Amino acid sequence: MADQNVLRPLEKERSQADLRLIEKIAKGFMVESEEDMTPGYKKALLTQLTVQGDTELLSAPAYYLASRDAPSINSRIAVTAIVHDELGHANIAYRMMEDLGVDKRQLIYGRQPHEFKHPYGFDQPLENWAEMVVANGLFDRAGITLLGDVHQNTSYGPLKRALVKVDREEVLHLRHGESWMKRLSKAGGEVKEALQRAVDWMFPITLEWFGLPDELKRHSGQLDYKLKGKTNDQLRQVWMDSVVPLCEGIGIDVPAHFDEDKKEYLLDYPFPCQYDPTDKQWLFDEPLSWEKVFKRWKARGPMNKTYIEMVQGEFGAKLGSN
Ligand SMILES: [Fe+2]
Ligand SMILES: [Fe+2]
Repeated sequence: MADQNVLRPLEKERSQADLRLIEKIAKGFMVESEEDMTPGYKKALLTQLTVQGDTELLSAPAYYLASRDAPSINSRIAVTAIVHDELGHANIAYRMMEDLGVDKRQLIYGRQPHEFKHPYGFDQPLENWAEMVVANGLFDRAGITLLGDVHQNTSYGPLKRALVKVDREEVLHLRHGESWMKRLSKAGGEVKEALQRAVDWMFPITLEWFGLPDELKRHSGQLDYKLKGKTNDQLRQVWMDSVVPLCEGIGIDVPAHFDEDKKEYLLDYPFPCQYDPTDKQWLFDEPLSWEKVFKRWKARGPMNKTYIEMVQGEFGAKLGSN
């Protein structure tokens, strides 16, 4: 009881400090170092950087394994270069966390596979070249959508500057994916069918990646602190605004359409719904609560352990030496 009394004024003061910081940020203040932060700001920033770093990191083993299906040496080299970029991007996020007192080696080597915070999409195997290039076209597009928003709106100066390089490289990954998707579609027959199958599971898995709908979103402070500018639903729309026309333009079906009255993209299936990772199949007749989606995410997907083992071996060693 005595402890609680001691804590109360501190909490009050902390939230007032938060309010002051939020007000300053709204007027254009950029946070440059730890001294500028409140504990709440620092916590929200570290959460964001963990998800960012883990997502970049886990794309590396997924793309690396898929690069073995490249149709030529040139295209294998292109994906190997992308893997190299992704490891660099992960290092940027972790390095920034290190400046805020987090142990980078512990982050990479000290966590169990299920403790990483990357999206469920990067727990899945990319099993052929079509899936590899759709990952570039759809997953990297999600990366640009999310990081582009952070780059434009973040109140954290060091992150804003670092994202200039990341954004430029992500655009190249995306172009690689989009140009290959066009080529595979043009080839027709079985090649186009493989492309369609890849989009069939990867389109809904990317939409889930943007997280809870705004109406259910718990207050995280990321918008108040201006660590990001757009809401989850707005980001989902931005992503679809590029991906739906891309797919439709090359004769690939997606379960979404633009609604002229509402001026937004609507999904043609219950969102969210169940996913069968063994068959890589969305069960559109099994709508799900978000609680159950979180449960599926928490249980992680089929490649979680394999990818983390790779990262904590050869890729991790590379990162650790930076
Ligand atoms: Fe990246
Ligand atoms: Fe990328």
